[in-house]
Amino acid sequence: MRAAIEAAKAGLNVAVVTKVYPVRSHSVAAQGGINAALKETDSWEAHMFDTVKGSDYLGDQDAIEIMCREAPQDILELEKMGAVFSRDKAGRIAQRPFGGAGYPRTCYLADRTGHGMLHVMYEQMLKYGAYLYDEWHVVKLVVEDNVARGIIAVEFDTGKLHRLHSKATIIATGGYGRVYGTTTNALTSTGDGMALALDAGAELMDMEFVQFHPTVLKRTGILMTEGARGEGGYLLNSKGERFMSKYAPKVLELASRDVVSRAEQTEIEEGRGVDGCVLLDLRHLGEEKINERLSQIRELAVNFAGVDPVKEPVPVKPGAHYSMGGIAAGVDGATRIAGLFAAGESACVSVHGANRLGGNSLLETIVFGRRAGKKAAEFAKGSPLPDFPDSALRDAAHEVADIMKRDDGEAQHIIRNELNALMEENCGIFRNRERLTKCLDKVRELKQRYGRVALSDKGEFFNNELLYVLELGKMLTVSEAIVLGALNRQESRGSHFRTDFPARNDNDWLKHTLVYKDAGALKIRYRDVNITKFKPEERKY
Ligand code: FUM
Repeated sequence: MRAAIEAAKAGLNVAVVTKVYPVRSHSVAAQGGINAALKETDSWEAHMFDTVKGSDYLGDQDAIEIMCREAPQDILELEKMGAVFSRDKAGRIAQRPFGGAGYPRTCYLADRTGHGMLHVMYEQMLKYGAYLYDEWHVVKLVVEDNVARGIIAVEFDTGKLHRLHSKATIIATGGYGRVYGTTTNALTSTGDGMALALDAGAELMDMEFVQFHPTVLKRTGILMTEGARGEGGYLLNSKGERFMSKYAPKVLELASRDVVSRAEQTEIEEGRGVDGCVLLDLRHLGEEKINERLSQIRELAVNFAGVDPVKEPVPVKPGAHYSMGGIAAGVDGATRIAGLFAAGESACVSVHGANRLGGNSLLETIVFGRRAGKKAAEFAKGSPLPDFPDSALRDAAHEVADIMKRDDGEAQHIIRNELNALMEENCGIFRNRERLTKCLDKVRELKQRYGRVALSDKGEFFNNELLYVLELGKMLTVSEAIVLGALNRQESRGSHFRTDFPARNDNDWLKHTLVYKDAGALKIRYRDVNITKFKPEERKY
């Protein structure tokens, strides 16, 4: 929506095509905040250093510099648009500590920051007159001669396929958390844009880097914000020990997410967990502070785990949260396809490298959404409307009809559940060659089985089963890219931890993985990291 606002402001006709109504999109679940060096005692350089270090030196420093320099202005602009932020005693935007950050620079709205921002984006999008096609699912990105020409989407209300012919297309479809069984991500986060772009000839970058958030509510996948630790919450094992003192003696629970998630998983696997979890203890914060700053997570813990954080510690474990990788894009969102742009979690610019810092995700959507919208508008103004191939709609219609008319075949949920378990067990926090090889073979086998999936609902109107089938195809494509990248990267860096290659290896692996499609098969190439200000050092917390 941030991209749409910018393109509409530039005077273009903009259409936003979305699988869910915009205020239900997954950013609504972003709880803890958005980073910007607002205070005189902080600086964009410090924000940049923390982000580079957090990325385990894989982030492109030119892109990180842009994000950190432009962040304060973007926050003020958001505020002028109507975004509400919690305030400090002096009435300024309040900022809380977050993991991996050397300064409390995360601006927040209690524990509902994404919710607040999303509504402002929606209002602004309407104000600037963007057209909305909601509950439409894109089945094809139409590219010919390396030029993007628009999309084909199914309107779920009627089951009709439509073509949207455009000069420029921006993908901002978020992540793929749903390929894992335990995830903080909404049901809609199925990696659609990434798979569409890959199929159309774009490259995916650094897909092996999957972030596991350390505090996901037991058995639910519900996020317990990092803000809870930012406000002073502890993590305890079954012996009542603050175990982070072993893994990150200086910063404890505020180490970066990859470090905390691995520590938790180690405690659980070595028998010091509590029923497959560790405990997040907030009791010492007191009821007043919990109600003021963390009221949503109190409510969620009570409703979904029967635990009141004011009185008892909350059982949590790591869960898939964020995709550092995505569609390879430049700092203005351009991809290698003319007229195709990407922004937000679906893109890899790359500002997060091997591990994202909390609070940099909402920021990325705003900074790079704005930049992509502006660039796409410039591109559209300077280009003729390319032809839209006649065959594209017909081919897409055949593909959907093929799925609809199959009578015998497997149900999609069986494959989806197998994929979730497979990825969780073999391409999770701790990885090795044996597990990844098995995982890759199995994903490819699931892809074969996917070709024979059949629907029990043959209806045209609001056919959710068809949506799940279309999503599953994309989830399988994205999973193959994740596992392929993970198997090839023979080192440990950020969120990618190989038990058979436990050290970071800058000599051989300080490089980005690029996955592309060649004659139907996924291939890999590598490219250098842009290093400007900060030379790689060992990360210590
Ligand atoms: O923990 C959180 O509130 C998540 C924030 C983020 O992923 O940036």
